[in-house]
Amino acid sequence: MKVLVVGSGGREHALAWKIAQSRRADRVYVAPGNAGTAADAENVDISDSDIPRLIQFAKRNGVGLTVVGPEAPLAGGIVNAFNDEKLRIFGPTQEAAQLEGSKVFCKQVLRNADVPTAEYRAFHDAASAITYLNERDNIPVVVKADGLAAGKGVFVCASREQAIDAVKQIAVDRAFGDAGNELVIEERLEGQEASVLAITDGRTIVTLPPAQDHKPAYDGDQGPNTGGMGAYTPTPLVTEEILRMIEGQVLVPTIHQMKRSRRPFRGMLYAGLMITAQGPRVLEYNVRFGDPECQPLLMRLQSDLLDLLDATVDSRLDELDALAWDPRPAVCVVMASDGYPGSYERGFPIRGLDDAAKLPDVKVFHAGTAISDGKTVTAGGRVLGITALGNSISAAKLQAYRGVKCIRWNGAWCRKDISDKALEYER
Ligand code: AMP
Ligand code: GLY
Repeated sequence: MKVLVVGSGGREHALAWKIAQSRRADRVYVAPGNAGTAADAENVDISDSDIPRLIQFAKRNGVGLTVVGPEAPLAGGIVNAFNDEKLRIFGPTQEAAQLEGSKVFCKQVLRNADVPTAEYRAFHDAASAITYLNERDNIPVVVKADGLAAGKGVFVCASREQAIDAVKQIAVDRAFGDAGNELVIEERLEGQEASVLAITDGRTIVTLPPAQDHKPAYDGDQGPNTGGMGAYTPTPLVTEEILRMIEGQVLVPTIHQMKRSRRPFRGMLYAGLMITAQGPRVLEYNVRFGDPECQPLLMRLQSDLLDLLDATVDSRLDELDALAWDPRPAVCVVMASDGYPGSYERGFPIRGLDDAAKLPDVKVFHAGTAISDGKTVTAGGRVLGITALGNSISAAKLQAYRGVKCIRWNGAWCRKDISDKALEYER
C-alpha cells in the first residue's frame, strides 16, 4: 500500500518512519515533510493546508491511506473532503475535530459526558467575563481563547488583574483574532500533567502508554510555553490504576458522548490531563498525535502501525491483537533554535547528525529542518527530537543526551531536565 503522511514536524517524521517499517507499506510519502522525512520516506511539495492538491496527489498516485499529523487540516475538513472522494484517511471529521478546535465545545462535551474537568464558564464578550471575575472569590483561574491559537491562547492566572488582562487580550485586543470570539474561564487545577493518547474507531478504544510532555521552554518548567520541549513514556505518574480510571471515566464517556451528539469520533484522541489529588482531570483534548509525545511512543511500538491505522479507518479495531511495546522507556529531547518560542533565524547548517545516528537505541527525528545546497539546515523553532530507549527512564535520558551532544548548529539549545519528573518515582 502507498501511504501519505500530511505535515512536516517531528511527529510526522516519526509516523512516516514507523509506517515505512510495515511489510505492507510499498511507498511512504510526506507532504510537505522535512529533511528527515526525505531520508526515511519521500517528500511531496504540497502544503499541509492545500486539501485539493493533496486529494489530487492521493488519486494520481494510488495512495491507499492518508494519515494527518497536525490539527489545522483536520479542523479545516481534510477528512470530510477525502471521504467525499472515497479516499481512505486516518483522523476525525471536521465536526469531531471541534473537540480540539473549540474549547467551549470541548467543555460542553465533558460536562454532558460527566467527565472530570475544571469547572468553567463560557463568555462571548469582555464585559460579562470581567463582571464575572470581579464577583468571583476563588481567583486562581485559567483564561482560554475558544479557538485554535497554536497553544498561545491559554493564560494561567494567579491574580484577578492577570485574569482581567487575559480577557482583554483575547476579547478586546483580539490577539488571537476570531479564535477569541468566545472565551472560557475555568478553575485552576494543581498537580502534574500527563498525556494519554488513545486510538479509536468510534466503538473500540486502544489506549497507548501514558506520556509526559514538557511545555515550558526552560529547565524546571520556567519560561514561556512552547509546542513541547521533550517527552517520555511511560510516565510512572500515571499508574495502571489511574490509567484504567482515565479509560473508564474520561475516554469511554467522551467517545459515547461524541456519538450521541452525532459527531462520531474516529482517529487519535489525546487527553491532556492534570493528575490532581482528587484524581485525573481533563485540561484539553487534542484530536491527533501529540508532538513530541508521538516520537517516544512510536520508538517503543513494536506492532505494525499501518495495521493499527488501517483497522481504525475500517472500524476493525476490535479484531486487532493487543499492541506490543518495547518494555524499555523512551525519552525525546527537543533541540531548538536560538530565540524559540519567540522569533528565530533559519538556515543554519546542522552538524553531527551522522554521529548521533550511529549511537545504539537512538533515533533523531527531524522537525524544523530542510535541505539547502545538499546540506541539512534549520528551518523552524523546534528543529530535532533526539529520542532514545534505555533500561530505565534515566538510562534512556542519558542516551538521548548523548545524541544531543553529537549535534551542533549556531544557537542550538535544549532543556537539560527532560524526564526528571519521573526520577522521584524511580528511586
Ligand atoms: P490547554 O491548551 O487547555 O491544554 O492549556 C495549555 C496549558 O495550560 C496546559 O498544558 C496547562 O499547563 C495549563 N492549563 C490549562 N488549563 C488549566 C487548568 N484548569 N489548571 C491549571 N493549568 C491549566
Ligand atoms: N505535546 C503537545 C501537543 O502536541 O499539543
